[in-house]
Amino acid sequence: MNNIKACIFDLDGVIVDTAVYHYKAWKRLAAGLGFDFSEHDNERLKGVSRMRSLEIVLECGGVTKTDAEKEQLAAQKNTWYTEMINQMTPAEILPGAQEFVQSCRDAGIKTALGSASKNSMTILNKLNIVNLFDAIIDGNKVSKAKPDPEVFLKGAEELSIEPQFCVVFEDAIAGVEAAKAGGMKAVGIGDANILHEADMVVSGLDKVTLEQLEILP
Ligand code: BG6
Ligand code: MG
Repeated sequence: MNNIKACIFDLDGVIVDTAVYHYKAWKRLAAGLGFDFSEHDNERLKGVSRMRSLEIVLECGGVTKTDAEKEQLAAQKNTWYTEMINQMTPAEILPGAQEFVQSCRDAGIKTALGSASKNSMTILNKLNIVNLFDAIIDGNKVSKAKPDPEVFLKGAEELSIEPQFCVVFEDAIAGVEAAKAGGMKAVGIGDANILHEADMVVSGLDKVTLEQLEILP
């Protein structure tokens, strides 16, 4: 594998399905504000930062809040969210995810996590997979949200690998855009009609092999 030296993985939706917990917490927050937040609208929050997610939720309910109120609402949502992720177990790792990351390591390919979530370490600890990654870049280490490539470029830098030798695995449109903006290859996890900017799309890490990565453009 000469052309692939590092694989960088998004967390939510690629390694684990936390979208359901984010959704429950946002829905509870919306209910408290007097409106319903649908599963359809929840799709818009994938890969998006906590504060931007709150703004989208408020927009859906036609509600306006001051910056101070927004801080308080985002903190409340995070309290409910962390209560749920603290109950997570390794059984919630998505099919094939752990095996695929390990197969990269076994092949001498460096691995990194590149996530917008400030809760990444809590989740990795609960799943018992902190040691699967040579570098961990999360929402606490970046100032610019995806589709800005900062999170992935920092990952590549920490691994000392140039971007053109990195493959990013992402389930969000903004994440695929971030990878491409960083000069990296992108494997979309999900629907090819939605993630059409990706170099290749699969339904999950159980459906991709290292051999397939070799032939990415
Ligand atoms: C991303 C999720 O990984 O992290 C988003 O896809 C979420 O839905 C974002 O809003 C921030 O997460 P957290 O845990 O910092 O609130
Ligand atoms: Mg994601």
